[in-house]
Amino acid sequence: MNTTLPIPWNATVARRVDVNESLRILWIRPDSGSIQPFEPGQFVQLGWPKPEHPAGPPPTRVRWNKRSYSIASSPEETGAYELCLAHVHGGVLTPQLFEQPEGARVWCDDAPKGHFTLARIPEGRHLVCVATGTGIAPFTSMLRRYRGTGRFRKLTILWGARGSADLAYDAEFRAAASSNAEVRYAAIASREPASSTWSGARGRVQALLDGATFVSIAGEPLEPFDTHVLLCGNPAMIDDVRALLEPRGFVLDGAKASGNLHFERYW
Ligand SMILES: Cc1cc2nc3c(=O)[nH]c(=O)nc-3n(C[C@H](O)[C@H](O)[C@H](O)COP(=O)(O)OP(=O)(O)OC[C@H]3O[C@@H](n4cnc5c(N)ncnc54)[C@H](O)[C@@H]3O)c2cc1C
Ligand SMILES: NC(=O)c1ccc[n+]([C@@H]2O[C@H](COP(=O)([O-])OP(=O)(O)OC[C@H]3O[C@@H](n4cnc5c(N)ncnc54)[C@H](OP(=O)(O)O)[C@@H]3O)[C@@H](O)[C@H]2O)c1
Repeated sequence: MNTTLPIPWNATVARRVDVNESLRILWIRPDSGSIQPFEPGQFVQLGWPKPEHPAGPPPTRVRWNKRSYSIASSPEETGAYELCLAHVHGGVLTPQLFEQPEGARVWCDDAPKGHFTLARIPEGRHLVCVATGTGIAPFTSMLRRYRGTGRFRKLTILWGARGSADLAYDAEFRAAASSNAEVRYAAIASREPASSTWSGARGRVQALLDGATFVSIAGEPLEPFDTHVLLCGNPAMIDDVRALLEPRGFVLDGAKASGNLHFERYW
């Protein structure tokens, strides 16, 4: 860690689940014992001290490397923020965070942030949520918080990951879809070995937006009327899906004009 100053940690890794060697779910408990209120779709930053410059003047305060993580838990789970982290090889923060056991100390934002929420989407709409990798986290929170509340007419979750082993919330989504008619779910794997037992779709998540495929998942065609599409994760996916949907009448939501296409780029 290479710092001579006392480190003002303010949170603890309360629980850690190793989904596989590249994917972890961490529950981060603030020292106050309770999370701050948030809207599903928001994120918190985690931080780790920046190394001190060996030749520089003695530091007067700890400086942090901070990165953002979408909250997967429902705001009703007040004891900790549930976060889903991919290990970026050679990354600044994730190799550090992946080493931390349960009970380790970390730095966490005092208050969640972000605008990738349902605040600008009227009630009773069809929400089509398209995620790659850990971009599933905001939709996990939305499902957990709003299922059965009437907040949406239908929630269709389409999730693309490299392999089936990366689909950490697959069982939960399948269970939600089988017990709630308004929840629809499909996953697709892009690098699943041909020899594996995965019987689901193979390819990239755009394939699930194709006409008949989408109808078979959502039970209705993908049309702009009363539907909002939310995209989260890999920025290349966001660019590609925007290019698919904008010619089909979906309009980007923005500060100046409301629309029915929303996104959160992870990098
Ligand atoms: C609003 C927001 C929410 C985010 N939520 C999450 C989240 O819930 N889970 C999560 O794992 N990451 C999330 N990220 C990404 C996260 O903030 C970091 O960028 C990521 O953990 C890498 O940090 P690093 O310091 O290890 O890598 P860096 O040294 O910062 O390297 C960044 C590079 O890593 C790659 N990268 C970054 N994030 C990912 C990712 N999730 N999957 C694959 N490759 C990636 C990109 O090539 C990027 O250029 C979010 C980003 C934003 C802006
Ligand atoms: N998940 C793993 O098995 C694994 C293993 C080792 C290391 N890692 C590391 O973990 C980090 C996170 O990887 P990740 O797999 O979670 O995230 P990712 O690289 O963003 O990939 C997630 C999914 O997004 C897809 N995707 C990429 N570009 C797309 C586009 N333009 N349109 C639609 N879909 C697109 C990928 O398909 P493609 O497969 O076709 O790109 C994959 O299915 C990376 O740094 C990686 O090196 C992951």
